[in-house]
Amino acid sequence: MIHIAIIGGTGVYDPNILENVHQDEVLTPYGLVSYKVGSFEGKNIAFIPRHGSKHSIAPHLINYQANIWAMKKIGVKLILATAAVGSLRLDMKLGDFVLVDQFIDFTRNRKNTFYEGGKRGVVHVDLTNPYCSMIREKLLLVAQNMGIAVHNDGTYICTEGPRFETPAEIHMFSKLGGDLVGMTNVPEVILAREAEMCYATIAMVTNYAAGISSKPLTYGEVLEVMNANTENLKRLFMNVITSIDSETDCSCQHALTEYGGFKL
Ligand code: HPA
Repeated sequence: MIHIAIIGGTGVYDPNILENVHQDEVLTPYGLVSYKVGSFEGKNIAFIPRHGSKHSIAPHLINYQANIWAMKKIGVKLILATAAVGSLRLDMKLGDFVLVDQFIDFTRNRKNTFYEGGKRGVVHVDLTNPYCSMIREKLLLVAQNMGIAVHNDGTYICTEGPRFETPAEIHMFSKLGGDLVGMTNVPEVILAREAEMCYATIAMVTNYAAGISSKPLTYGEVLEVMNANTENLKRLFMNVITSIDSETDCSCQHALTEYGGFKL
């Protein structure tokens, strides 16, 4: 059984903590999904690089529905996602990890539900705690024990991308209570909850957002900071996977009880 999946964001294209890695694929109503499977300490782990293995899929064109459906279909209960983010706060510094706890959705043109009427019907999923508290607690403990800079919460503003933001937009996002900005957490986190899976994002600050930084932003700097910190990320994953019991029941896994549960 594969109970844990890692969805790698920008700069995380390789499941290099895993052994005996092989490629597999699964058909979903939204298309075919290729993923890797390997093992770590006797646990089978699936891995999907969200942007493709060569960063060829733009944030607004990622097939989020297919990816989450595929993970559900192979039996995944728990998803650890990574995300490169711009920081709106001077105290969330380059290379810091943030265990995102809220999001604000500024995407414009994405499919953000598995329930579009018809045979599947309509659901209104609760997102009071959009990110799994159980995994966030584990991540916090592990990161603190490792002595790495980690923030226990943060509000993630999700933009449509693929462009970076204007300073005026960042100014507005700050006023609205945003801490971080990225392009991919929505709808991934929503779909994971609809599919009744635990989902947590480990955001890594790769740059100060437009206007917070006085310099123009470059994708190169995002990659540079990400690459400089992948070793920490890798160790964090290893320690959290070791300490997490993927059989633990969690309220995320009953998110659609009111609707009779999620059905593939
Ligand atoms: N904006 C949006 N997405 C990002 C950024 C940013 O500044 N940095 C990394 N991903």
